[in-house]
Amino acid sequence: MRKSILDLQSMKAKRERIVALTAYDFQLASILDSVCDLVLVGDSLGNVFQGNETTLGVTLDEIIYHGKIVSKAIKNSHLCIDMPFMTYQSSISDAMKSIGRVIKETDAQSIKLEINFDTLDTIERISNSGIPVVAHVGLCPQSFNIYGGYRKQGRNKVEKDYIFSLSKEAVKSGASILVIEGVPENLASKITKSVSIPTIGIGAGNKCDGQILVSEDLLGITPPPHPSFVKNYANLRQVIKKSINNYKNDVKKNKFPSNN
Ligand code: KIV
Repeated sequence: MRKSILDLQSMKAKRERIVALTAYDFQLASILDSVCDLVLVGDSLGNVFQGNETTLGVTLDEIIYHGKIVSKAIKNSHLCIDMPFMTYQSSISDAMKSIGRVIKETDAQSIKLEINFDTLDTIERISNSGIPVVAHVGLCPQSFNIYGGYRKQGRNKVEKDYIFSLSKEAVKSGASILVIEGVPENLASKITKSVSIPTIGIGAGNKCDGQILVSEDLLGITPPPHPSFVKNYANLRQVIKKSINNYKNDVKKNKFPSNN
């Protein structure tokens, strides 16, 4: 059975770390399903799968397409789907329509929003409608053009206070989990200690209740340079390249298929 949002929330009380990774396709998702507590169909789809500089171009139809595929593989983990840029910001009614489509068409169990103070009402309406909301704070990649790049957040007291109070308000509005990206460890730690819901960090130190990474980064499928917080657990780009070159050599030398 898939893990529910309550299963994930109870892990905080038990001090059990939440293991989360991203997936956009069936094969990887089926591997993650036997290992991870949460699988996210992230809008990093735009960078990783589509090869764009930002996540801004990902559409609702695209995330639903990938969400449906990943959903087929998820039997044990919790499935969360990221809401693409401008599918939830323009009005609560647009957000409800977009999120309703994602839940109905993909069978995801929760959705993730990159939030600010304007999004709090949306969090409340969505969670009151029975849909768990994962609220993403700190470095929000959909604000790429405001930051002028991917920049760490919480670098001074004003930014720290903003992210801290936003996190607290998100919980009051009904968020079920916080994703905290690209902030100093002491801020992520302060938020984690001050909220009742789990925090999942990415580039935010090791004091959160769980961690998430982009799978293709940790597997070394995306080319370097990776963000400094990424640990490469494999270099599959090299392994794949070597295997393809071996295949090429065999074909050129007429060694494949072997004639027996
Ligand atoms: O889009 C994404 O994959 C994400 C995670 C890395 C947190 O937002």
